[in-house]
Amino acid sequence: MKNILEAKFMVEAIRTFSNLYRLGWDERNGGNLTYLLTDDDVRDYLDTTKVIREIPFDFDGSALIGKMFLVTGTGEYFKNIQYEPEKDLGIIRIGATGRVAELLWGFRGGNKFTSELPSHLMSHISRLSVDPLHRVVIHSHPTYTVAMSLTHALTEREFTRSLWKVQTESIVVFPEGISVLPWMVCGNNEIGAATAKKLTTTRICVWTAHGIYGTGRTLDEAFGLIETVEKAAQLFMLTEGHDRINEISDRQLKELAASFGLNYRKDYLD
Ligand code: 13P
Ligand code: ZN
Repeated sequence: MKNILEAKFMVEAIRTFSNLYRLGWDERNGGNLTYLLTDDDVRDYLDTTKVIREIPFDFDGSALIGKMFLVTGTGEYFKNIQYEPEKDLGIIRIGATGRVAELLWGFRGGNKFTSELPSHLMSHISRLSVDPLHRVVIHSHPTYTVAMSLTHALTEREFTRSLWKVQTESIVVFPEGISVLPWMVCGNNEIGAATAKKLTTTRICVWTAHGIYGTGRTLDEAFGLIETVEKAAQLFMLTEGHDRINEISDRQLKELAASFGLNYRKDYLD
């Protein structure tokens, strides 16, 4: 077997954790990530017949039986993952009952998957139902996005419009808009189900006074979505209290959408 730390998915994931930390979006143990792995990803690196231990969870993941995920450990610091990935990360496979994770690699020292596993796995189920190529869920705490969730109306139409109007790239990168959840207790099945429901229509969901869920077919896509929302939120918050006399108008957004051939939320523009 080759060294799994040199596998493409692992190298990319570890770079992603370091970037998320460097950007200040994953303080302490904030944030978590799950990455759906294919047999091709792991074939040369992992003996999938060897289960290190089984870790139960308390929700129905039967839609994902047999699927493997790279997953962050609960309580681990993104800033440290690059130095001890085999302690801070795990590769799990959803077992035959749909309620147990078979640990195939990692979590050396006895840790287990993120407390947000329900939200992640339910989100994967949702996204796979609308996009068979979907693979990545990133939860992060980007500063300006969270700040905006504290001061902005939480209606998805208004939230999306505010992000679209301060940055030309916004409607191009997330033409379907973004979802927003009101504040909820995190780490349980309830927020998982609510997030997953939102993610059937958008790839992004903001958690008020907490953070964001970004999804995608690749790490870059999920990361790039979060990055683009966060940049727009930063522009929005930096211009709060000022007259945005040059913000992008609905007419201009429509021109942009026509020029880029976007399938955008028409009802979000007048
Ligand atoms: P975990 O350390 O369990 O992944 O939790 C971090 C977090 O961001 C909770 O929302
Ligand atoms: Zn969080």
